[in-house]
Amino acid sequence: MIFITFEGIDGSGKTTISKMLKDSLDQKGYKVLLTREPGGEPMAERIRNIILDSDVAPTPWTETLLYVAARKQHLDTVIVPALREGTIVICDRFMDSTSAYQGYGRNIGITDVDEVQNIVLGVTKPDLTIFFDITPKEAQLRLMNRKRAADRLEKEDIKFHESVYDGYQILISENTDRIKVIDARKNVNEVFQQVEFIVENILNEGLMKEDD
Ligand code: TMP
Repeated sequence: MIFITFEGIDGSGKTTISKMLKDSLDQKGYKVLLTREPGGEPMAERIRNIILDSDVAPTPWTETLLYVAARKQHLDTVIVPALREGTIVICDRFMDSTSAYQGYGRNIGITDVDEVQNIVLGVTKPDLTIFFDITPKEAQLRLMNRKRAADRLEKEDIKFHESVYDGYQILISENTDRIKVIDARKNVNEVFQQVEFIVENILNEGLMKEDD
């Protein structure tokens, strides 16, 4: 049915809001799958553990290919079957994360990374992507208050996170129809309201198309 992805730098709050969105759509009677990347199914979760392990040091392309491998597995075994069944899929991170973090943050180049992603992943792309906008400095402050230990990517310095943020800005400017930006600095309820408004619009548009 509809494929929605959430994107943003670490600490932007998208995971909390994705759970709130799932609950609210469930209550409205929609069939909804909330999933995440890297991960979302057993093998991809194992790849996640390798990628985020602070004791390993993959080169930029190795890191990229691991994210894409996890995504291919998740897409083929979970996302595509769910969409075919008419489920709304909400995915916490997807292709844009690899474009921003590896393509731009790791300096591989968004074009090269996307060429690989397009070859491997095929035609299934998000209908809507919500970008949780918060400055890297504000996000770092939020991360410092987290209870769990930081993973390998979260431990990267502020320059890396600033670069990832800049990478996202390029993706936003090149995909204005698909990527909607929300102000993630607001409190949880206000952020959720912004997301709910955008999602309701796209669901209504989908229903109007079905009526045509
Ligand atoms: P998460 O904390 O949002 O679950 O994501 C784990 C980390 O992996 C996070 O720092 C973002 C990073 N990441 C990439 O670098 N490339 C990707 O393609 C994805 C999906 C995540």
